Amino acid sequence: MAKSILIINGPNLNMLGKRELNIYGATTLEQINNSIQERAIALDLNVICFQSNNEGELVDKLQQAGPGCDGIIINPAAYTHTSVAIRDALAALNKPTIEIHLSNIFKREDFRKHSYISDIAFGVISGLGANGYILALDALKNILES
Ligand code: DQA
Repeated sequence: MAKSILIINGPNLNMLGKRELNIYGATTLEQINNSIQERAIALDLNVICFQSNNEGELVDKLQQAGPGCDGIIINPAAYTHTSVAIRDALAALNKPTIEIHLSNIFKREDFRKHSYISDIAFGVISGLGANGYILALDALKNILES
């Protein structure tokens, strides 16, 4: 049976394509989600894509959709650097999780260098732009099959 992956995007990622293009690139979230869906079909994976600007809604989605999924890809955006609540929701799920960032957070301001998620993630992709989501999907496919 096809495995299911929950893909979570945090605040301001709905603004991709309009927001700080030099940092995040010109690709919109809709375009990213379309390429994820395309890749998921090729990999025989089901994906659910969810974005919210609200921390509680991200936690709610992890609680509701997380238990039925086999793995998680999350770009918590600004909540990466602040949210114990999202960390706790992921820890409770205990599913293989890939943390992803479009930009290289280690090349930027000091406050972006700490993540509340990285030490409970299976792996982290940072700085590879929109393609990072596809790489994360490929990685999860391998992790779930090994
Ligand atoms: C981001 C990096 C975060 O520091 C920032 O707050 C974002 C996006 C990224 O994808 O590069 O909103 O997660």
